[in-house]
Amino acid sequence: MSHTQPTETPLEDAVPARELSMTVNDRLCRVRCEDRHLLVEVLREQLRLKGTHIGCLNGDCGACTVELNGEPVKSCLVLAPAAEGAEITTLEGLALDRDLDPVQIAFWENDGFQCGFCIPGQIFATRRLLAGNTDPTDAEIRSALAGNICRCTGYQTIVESVRAAAAARRDAPDHVEKGT
Ligand code: FES
Ligand code: FES
Repeated sequence: MSHTQPTETPLEDAVPARELSMTVNDRLCRVRCEDRHLLVEVLREQLRLKGTHIGCLNGDCGACTVELNGEPVKSCLVLAPAAEGAEITTLEGLALDRDLDPVQIAFWENDGFQCGFCIPGQIFATRRLLAGNTDPTDAEIRSALAGNICRCTGYQTIVESVRAAAAARRDAPDHVEKGT
């Protein structure tokens, strides 16, 4: 009885790399990755954007949050090839030209973080909340930020930071109610 030997495929052929392009923080970037690679890995390891953190790697903590085509996503749940051609904003992209985003300022001034590990999720969830609701109740704030785990603050200063960001947005001279 003859046995057919399995043919061996070199690993580099079995897992081909592909080239992707995406716009990250207003810059067109080209990266090479495998189909299995996560967006968070590409951002951190290839583009060196370490403001996007790796916590649970299963969608629970929010530390890896970025904006993908304007919507917050947990980048550990996105395969990098799915971001081909996308517009991505990371935490660094909110402070281009060294001017902090108003939400970042509110968190800074109200002790909304301590170690800062959870801050991508808190900031991007706040931006989405305030885009549609400029005067949220505390319950609405807590609901909007659910899914972002903070091991430091006890959450109260996070709620106060979001309230401050909402007030700053309402007081901004160019604030326009969008009715959304
Ligand atoms: S690392 Fe992505 S949600 Fe925790
Ligand atoms: S500030 Fe440390 S995890 Fe939230």
